[in-house]
Amino acid sequence: MKITILGCGNMGTAYARSFRKYGLVKAEDLLLIVRGEGRLAQLETLGMISDSVDGRISESDLVTVAVKPQDFGAIAPKLAAVLKPEQVVLSIMAGITLQRLDSSLGHEILVRAMPNAPAQIGMGITAYATGTELSMRQTLMVEQLLNCTGRAMHLEDESLLDPVTALSGSGPAYFFEIVRTMIATGIRLGLEPHVANALVKQTMLGSFHLMEHSDRTPDELIKAVMSKGGTTEAAFKVFADGSFARTLDMGIEAASKRARELSRS
Ligand SMILES: NC(=O)c1ccc[n+]([C@@H]2O[C@H](COP(=O)([O-])OP(=O)(O)OC[C@H]3O[C@@H](n4cnc5c(N)ncnc54)[C@H](OP(=O)(O)O)[C@@H]3O)[C@@H](O)[C@H]2O)c1
Repeated sequence: MKITILGCGNMGTAYARSFRKYGLVKAEDLLLIVRGEGRLAQLETLGMISDSVDGRISESDLVTVAVKPQDFGAIAPKLAAVLKPEQVVLSIMAGITLQRLDSSLGHEILVRAMPNAPAQIGMGITAYATGTELSMRQTLMVEQLLNCTGRAMHLEDESLLDPVTALSGSGPAYFFEIVRTMIATGIRLGLEPHVANALVKQTMLGSFHLMEHSDRTPDELIKAVMSKGGTTEAAFKVFADGSFARTLDMGIEAASKRARELSRS
C-alpha cells in the first residue's frame, strides 16, 4: 500500500507513526507533505518528505488530508490537479463536508472522518462517512488505517458527524475539565497537589475499567457507590441543584449545533 499524508501536525504525525508502527506501509511508500522545519527530524524516520503538493501524490492508493480546515482552500486546487480517479481521499478536517471536498477536488472516492485527540496514542475513536460507496478493498484499507489509531465506526449518514464531533471529538476536553476541577477542589480542601493529582487520575482510570469489566449500566454503577444519607448522595444533591447533568447535556448540544454551523459556512 502507498499512502500520502498532507499536513503533518499533531494528527498527521500521529497517523504516520501509527501506520508505520502497525506495518501498514513501508517508509519508502509513505509520502509526508510537510510545511516548515518543526518536526522534520522525527518525520524523516517515518517516510519520504516533500514540501509541495505535486505529481508524486498520484502514486498513492490513499491520500490523507490532515491540514487545518482554514488551510484547505489554498491547497485544494493543487491537490485536485494531481489526484487520480481511483485514489481514496481521506479527510480528517473538522467541518469540511463531503460536498465541499467533492466540489473543491472534483474527486469521487471520498471519506470524511472525525477522529479525536487520543488517536495520537492509538486510543482514539473515529467515525467516518463516505461519498460514493467504496469497493471492498478500499473499505478494508480505510478501516485498517483508522483502526491503527484506535477504533473506527462507519456512519451511513454524514450529518451524524455533527453529534459525533460534539461527543467524541470534543469529549476529551470535557473529561479534562472534570479532572481539572476535581484536582483543584482536592487542593482547596487541603490535599497536596501531587496527592490530589494521583487520587483523581487513578480514580478515573479505575472507574473506566470497572465500567468496562462490569455488566452494569452507568446508572447502576452510580447507585452502587451511593448509600442513603452518605457522602456521594450529598454531592449528587448539589449536582442536581446546579443542574450538572442538564448543563453537560446543553453543552454537548451547543457543540453539535456549532459543528453543523461550521460545516455549512
Ligand atoms: N487535534 C485533534 O484532536 C483533532 C480532532 C479531530 C479532527 N482534527 C482535524 O485534524 C486536522 C489537523 O489537526 P491538527 O491538530 O493535527 O492540526 P495541526 O497540528 O495544526 O496540523 C496541521 C498541519 O498542516 C500543515 N499544513 C498546512 N498547510 C499545509 C500545506 N500547504 N502543506 C503542507 N502542510 C501544511 C500545518 O503546517 P503549519 O504548522 O506550518 O501551519 C500543520 O503542521 C484539522 O483539520 C482538524 O480539524 C483534529
